[in-house]
Amino acid sequence: MPGLFSPMNIRNTEIPNRIVMPPMATSEATEAGEVTETHLEHYGVRAASGVGTIIVEHTFVRFDGRASEGQLGVHDDSTMDGLSRLAKTIRDAGAVAILQITHCGGTGIGDGVDMRGAGSRPVPGRNYPAPRPFSKEELSALAEDFVAAARRAIAVGFDGVEIHGAHAYLLNQFLSPLCNDRTDEYGGDLEGRGRFPLEVVRAVRAELGENALVYYRLGAEDSMPGGLTLEEGSVFAGQLVAEGVDLVDVSGGLGGSRPEGMKREGYFVDAGVSVRGAIAPKPVMVAGGVINACTADELIREDLIDFVGIGRALLSDPFWALKAKERVGDLR
Ligand SMILES: Cc1cc2nc3c(=O)[nH]c(=O)nc-3n(C[C@H](O)[C@H](O)[C@H](O)COP(=O)(O)O)c2cc1C
Repeated sequence: MPGLFSPMNIRNTEIPNRIVMPPMATSEATEAGEVTETHLEHYGVRAASGVGTIIVEHTFVRFDGRASEGQLGVHDDSTMDGLSRLAKTIRDAGAVAILQITHCGGTGIGDGVDMRGAGSRPVPGRNYPAPRPFSKEELSALAEDFVAAARRAIAVGFDGVEIHGAHAYLLNQFLSPLCNDRTDEYGGDLEGRGRFPLEVVRAVRAELGENALVYYRLGAEDSMPGGLTLEEGSVFAGQLVAEGVDLVDVSGGLGGSRPEGMKREGYFVDAGVSVRGAIAPKPVMVAGGVINACTADELIREDLIDFVGIGRALLSDPFWALKAKERVGDLR
């Protein structure tokens, strides 16, 4: 049985092990969204200590679609030099480099942030005003922005992109019945609500061709009354894969990545198992509360999931993967 340190091939990329640093905002970019020395050191040390895949934090595809101060941008060519150095740093250290690309959909802060969202309902439980829904013409342009962002990411040397469809950001808002109250073909049932995210995936895959990796971070369930159910999320995961997604990174929907009350190690593993059932043999990754190397190894050995996200534990200990190798690397 494979374990935490077993490699896996996805398309033409060999992933050295099952440890993934999930996307985590450092808020260390310049005002223009450029990479700084801090990013190079932050990601470089973790890649060098044996993390198999680094998914670099959320990066905006349009300047007015940014979520927070200090966020990275891949919205035009001006940030490419820095992103190129970042991709090289990660890859030279032996890890696979993926860039998370996103639009906040009216949940950003600061002047000039776009207040358009999927529908006209504000995100429940958050303090954002009701958005204005994107028009159909605006959606076509936005899909192109995702495509251009993905093209830049690959051009600067990333192995792939992760499209952010979780945590109440724009693509998640489309999927969630609590946000998406549209009456056109981009709303209504799961087919309608999933239409725009699937259009983005299809366009990105068409642009990137067969070699690049396309991951999707899926808010697999909203964890709120009336929200997206895990059953729907799993069906949608199957559709993502049919459009060319290589790996589904299972996380939360409107409830976020760390929903209230979810404290145990691997709190999204059940969701990951459900999604995996819908997309097999494509791999799933799950992040959520895993701290111990033995737990991470067991999740792989018991064949529950394919990749384990180690987030906060890697923030507090950059050498987590090195220590995990000493602990479980030789188990057979
Ligand atoms: C400081 C911080 C920043 C985060 N930023 C992002 C992000 O940019 N994109 C994203 O999809 N998730 C983000 N997350 C969620 C993590 O990727 C992860 O899903 C979550 O922390 C649960 O995993 P963990 O328990 O291993 O930390 C962030 C989490 C933290 C703690």
